[in-house]
Amino acid sequence: MSFDLVLFGGTGDLAWRKLMPALFQAFRHGTLPEGGRIIGVGRDDLSADQYRALIRSRFDQVDLDKRPSMEEFTRFAALLDFVRMDLSQTADYARLAQTLNQRQTDTVVMYVATAPSLFTTVCEQLAAAGLNTAKTRVVLEKPLGHDLASNRAINDTVRRVFGEKQVFRIDHYLGKPAVQNLFALRFGNALFEPLWRREHIANIQITIAEELGVEKRGAFYETTGALRDMVQNHALQLLCAIGMEPPINSHADAIRDEKLKVLRSLKPWTAETLSQDVIRGQYAAGNMAGNAVAAYRDELGVNPASHTETFVALRTEISNWRWAGVPFYIRTGKRLAGRDARIVVNFRPTPHAIFNSQLGMANRLVINLQPKDGLELHLLAQGQDNRRNASTLAPVQLDLDFDKRFGSGRVGAYERLLLDVIDGRLNLFVRSDEQEEAWRWVEPILNYWKNDSQGPRPYAAGTWGPSASSAMIARDGFCWAEES
Ligand code: BG6
Repeated sequence: MSFDLVLFGGTGDLAWRKLMPALFQAFRHGTLPEGGRIIGVGRDDLSADQYRALIRSRFDQVDLDKRPSMEEFTRFAALLDFVRMDLSQTADYARLAQTLNQRQTDTVVMYVATAPSLFTTVCEQLAAAGLNTAKTRVVLEKPLGHDLASNRAINDTVRRVFGEKQVFRIDHYLGKPAVQNLFALRFGNALFEPLWRREHIANIQITIAEELGVEKRGAFYETTGALRDMVQNHALQLLCAIGMEPPINSHADAIRDEKLKVLRSLKPWTAETLSQDVIRGQYAAGNMAGNAVAAYRDELGVNPASHTETFVALRTEISNWRWAGVPFYIRTGKRLAGRDARIVVNFRPTPHAIFNSQLGMANRLVINLQPKDGLELHLLAQGQDNRRNASTLAPVQLDLDFDKRFGSGRVGAYERLLLDVIDGRLNLFVRSDEQEEAWRWVEPILNYWKNDSQGPRPYAAGTWGPSASSAMIARDGFCWAEES
């Protein structure tokens, strides 16, 4: 199947850090359909050869399973082209159209990896240039807006130009192998389904912890913050994957209908829950692996009196028959104690204890997203204490390491999602109504913060965030997984 993939923002950070390496990996794995062309679009005055050289030089700084040889890169580079464009200029779209019309392809993918403020301009200009044909697919990177109204405005414009089935709203967490494994675990096995409900589950914890700070993205992050950057999209998508009902089939809309129901069932915020169940933090100076690191307020592009949150912990519930009363905790932050993304499902204790033992880590299913990708089932087992020649109960762990099981050359999130776009598979992309519902739910938090002069609580870099996050979960009689 032949395709043209136009990469708006072709010289930007996302293009060289994630998208080009992902396309290269697909090429190397032999999964990128033949007859493809990748057209970078940017403001710089580059020839196709200069663009190829730029991408080659950047490949030295990114994560690839192995550096490409000159010969291998040259074969990949033959797919690359470059078109210089000022995205506000109508005439430049005509030049793009000319390049695209040089040949007929089955599919044209427009990947808009630009500042979100340009999304509507790009879509409108594509339509004006006649580039919104039935074979066109448009990919929109997050963040899609900064609140419900701006999200709707973007979606409305896009809808005037493209049909919903042509729009691929990307959330790269949905492309992570662990998330697809979660679908496989829940809907490909009958084992857990009877237990997957309020009668058997005490609480669920979703953690996306990063070690990195805001790096060079201070100016962007200042107007974004952790709630918009991570919770509104990635964390809520994980919550949907954990909490949704089994879809009637594996088609995109069946899956998205069920995710939408979860978002609609999230408990509405009240003045009390907003003040008690949402904790925001901001990293202060601290220590990461023995190195002193700066406070958020001292990062490049950040206001020294900033109130932007780099950490959020919150408690919510899904108000339906399956989940009523079960707390779902979400926690995400930058400059935390480790790079660790996982979902912890804590089952209820046995109804009657016959062993004189603290369960501790047992009775728990952990879905690891990164750095490791796999499943851990924590159980209580009979161990042997040789010193006392006695048997003791001990927590043990069944560990399914997917990297070991399936090899480490597995398909990464962007690689998987880009191939899905080219193939026209929408399962792992977000529909506009899901996105709007997620904004509707986070908006009261944003409004509450606007009027809360206290600002985020400071936490030392290299820790698990402000202590209020542990206090919040302790009120329910639970603790974060690493505290048990
Ligand atoms: C992005 C956020 O969507 O996800 C970044 O904008 C964050 O701030 C990144 O660092 C995390 O992704 P991953 O795949 O590295 O966990």
